[in-house]
Amino acid sequence: MALRHILTQENPALRRKCRPYTEFGHRLHQLLDDMGETLTQANGVGLAAPQVGILRRACVVLETNVPEGEEYIFELVNPEILLREGEQEGTEGCLSVPGQFGIVRRPERVVVRAQDRYGNVFEREGLGLTARAICHELDHLDGTLFVDLADRMLTEAELEEMYGGGEDEAE
Ligand code: NI
Repeated sequence: MALRHILTQENPALRRKCRPYTEFGHRLHQLLDDMGETLTQANGVGLAAPQVGILRRACVVLETNVPEGEEYIFELVNPEILLREGEQEGTEGCLSVPGQFGIVRRPERVVVRAQDRYGNVFEREGLGLTARAICHELDHLDGTLFVDLADRMLTEAELEEMYGGGEDEAE
């Protein structure tokens, strides 16, 4: 496994629509392994393939609806959202937009259908932060960043308070 370089906002690759995977072999497995390691190292809750320069429909997301210390990463290849339910408003960031956060409305619950690294189709539910992260990562696959969707971005004062007051999460 290896860490991948995370592209930042100004890179045009982040604005492209990604193509689906049709082959589920070594290259994909290597990418997903690397993305998982990169996400963990960056302390994020999600990472999409275009963020590491691969314009394909795959992402990794941290499942946080588990007891503390038992969080784990799951992989979504060719994902699509089947159901969006409820609404949550919250602070969102992105590993490709370092140091910036905004208020983004997202569904409270989603059901996503995807393939695993071997091509098997499955469905999974995301709640709360996990629903937010799934939506955020899927947006990346279509070239959308959270800054496009934010009702507003946090001010300098709010950022200072946030950095002083606790840990941040970035997708
Ligand atoms: Ni992101």
